[in-house]
Amino acid sequence: MQHPVGYIIAADGSAHLTSFWALLFNPWVGWQYLHNMGGAVITGAFVMAAVGAFYVLSRRQEEYGRIFLRLGVTAAVIASVFQIFPSGDGQGKMVALHQPATLAAMEGLFKTEKGAPIAIVGQPNVAEQRLDNPILIPKALSFLTYNRWGAEVKGLDAFPRDHWPDNIPLLYFSYHMMVGLGTIFIAITMVAAFLLWRKRLYGARWMLWILMLSFPFPYIANTAGWMTAELGRQPWLVYGLMRTSEGFSPLVSAGNGWFTLLGFMGMYAVLSIIFLFLIWREIEHGPRLLNGAVKTEGAA
Ligand code: HEM
Repeated sequence: MQHPVGYIIAADGSAHLTSFWALLFNPWVGWQYLHNMGGAVITGAFVMAAVGAFYVLSRRQEEYGRIFLRLGVTAAVIASVFQIFPSGDGQGKMVALHQPATLAAMEGLFKTEKGAPIAIVGQPNVAEQRLDNPILIPKALSFLTYNRWGAEVKGLDAFPRDHWPDNIPLLYFSYHMMVGLGTIFIAITMVAAFLLWRKRLYGARWMLWILMLSFPFPYIANTAGWMTAELGRQPWLVYGLMRTSEGFSPLVSAGNGWFTLLGFMGMYAVLSIIFLFLIWREIEHGPRLLNGAVKTEGAA
C-alpha cells in the first residue's frame, strides 16, 4: 500500500502480482519492519524498567526490581538509538524517495527550497501555506534527506493539490510527536544508562520516578507513528494507484460500518480493562519462586 511493487495493471484496470520476490524484498518493507520492531522493543523495555523502578521505589521485590531495571534500561537505550538511526532515518529516506508529497506535509514544508530547514516547532497554516511560529534548524532537512546541506527538497507547491495528504496539521503533529518522544526516550535512557554504569541508578529516586512514569509514552509514540504512516499515505489507499475514495464497498452501508466499529470499540475497551487488571495483579504479586511460593519483601 505504501510502495506497490512487482505488479502489472491488466486491461480491465485490475492489478496483478507478477513477482512474489519483488513483494518480499520491497525496500520499504525492510525499514518498516525494523522500525516497527524497534517500537515494540522500546515499549517492552520501558514497561520492564518502569516495573523495576516501582519495585525499588516501594522497597518490594527489590532484587528483582534491580534485574528489571538493568535489563529494561539496557534494552531501552539500544532500541531508542536504533529507532532514530538507522531505522527512523531509513524510513524517512523511503518516504522522501517514494512519497515526496508526504515528506513535505510531515515536515510542514510548503515551498520547494534548496538548503531546506527542519522545523522543531511550528503550526502548519494550510490556508496561508506557511508554518506559523516556527523554530527551524537551517539546512537540516536537506542534509538528513539527501546528505547534502544545499540539496533541493520539494515542498507541497511542487505537487498538485489533489495529491496532498488531506489532513496536513494532524499528519505534521503526529510525526513531530513521534520524533519528539523518540528524542526524549534517548535523553532519558542515556541518563539512566549512565547512572547504571556508575552504579548509582538504584539510589537515584528522581530517575526511578521518571522511569516509572514514562511507561505510557512509547504506546503514544507507536500510535503517532502509525497515524503518520496512514495519514501520510492519503489521499491514496494504494500509493499512486488507487485513491481511498475509490476503495470503499458500495454494498456496505454506513449503518453497518458504524455498527461494526462500535462493536470493535466495545470489545477492545473490555479487553483493555481485563488486560490492565491482569497486568496490575501480576505486578502486585511480583515474581514467584519456581516452587510457586510468592517472593517476600527484599528476598533475593
Ligand atoms: C526518533 C526519531 C524517529 C524518526 C526519525 C522516525 C521516522 C519515522 C518515519 C519516517 C516513519 C514513516 C512514516 C510514513 O510511512 O509515512 C515512521 C513510522 C513509524 N514510527 Fe517512527 N520515527 C522515530 C521514532 C519513533 C519512535 C520512538 C517510535 C515508537 C516507540 C516510532 C514508531 C513508529 C511506527 C509504529 C511507525 C509506523 C510504521 C508503519 O506501520 O508504517 N517511531 N517513523
